[in-house]
Amino acid sequence: MGALLILAPFVPWGEFLSASIKNPGKYQRQKVVIDNKPEYKAAAGKVVNVNDLQTFPPNSNWVISYPSSGDSTLDAADADTFTKYELIRLPAELGGDMKDASAFVAFNKVCVHLWCSPNYNPAEGHKQYECPCHGSAYRLPDGLATAGPAAIQPPPTNAMPILILTADNDGALNIEPPVWEVNRNGVLGMGRALYQDGKVNVYKEAG
Ligand code: FES
Repeated sequence: MGALLILAPFVPWGEFLSASIKNPGKYQRQKVVIDNKPEYKAAAGKVVNVNDLQTFPPNSNWVISYPSSGDSTLDAADADTFTKYELIRLPAELGGDMKDASAFVAFNKVCVHLWCSPNYNPAEGHKQYECPCHGSAYRLPDGLATAGPAAIQPPPTNAMPILILTADNDGALNIEPPVWEVNRNGVLGMGRALYQDGKVNVYKEAG
């Protein structure tokens, strides 16, 4: 059983590795808009602004879609987790009260173990991205798996693919066009390289 849990998931890597090249028009710079779901209340369907600590407070999470259809209600109805990301405003102790893009992370909604869909758990003692299927947990802010079967998969299959976020001068948050490679945004459903030559991969900018 243990051996089964550590098997790497079947991933059509080729499809994702070259996705940016095959679909050059699909992955554009895009404003970060919260999926329009009632449970998100004031944040539902809104463009995220890093200066708005009331609507987007630290230690909070929402689902966003990338690429978006352009309609946050349609996006909310789309269940394809390969186009979904958990937007997390970090806890204050990790800089979530900063009024810049560094206060946020966006993790893909597909677990790199066997493709279930993790959720952020903001509770004290957790404050991590947790998968309900087999207990994998990913830490903030870098998305490294620290518990469960994903944590014992070899790099780069032990960290969460991400979106790169930047803020405009007026505070509006943007998604930079991703590069679906392990040393950049990562490969959806497979993983992301966090370390290169023993150093943290500090890749921040697309292009
Ligand atoms: S799918 Fe197994 S821990 Fe997420």
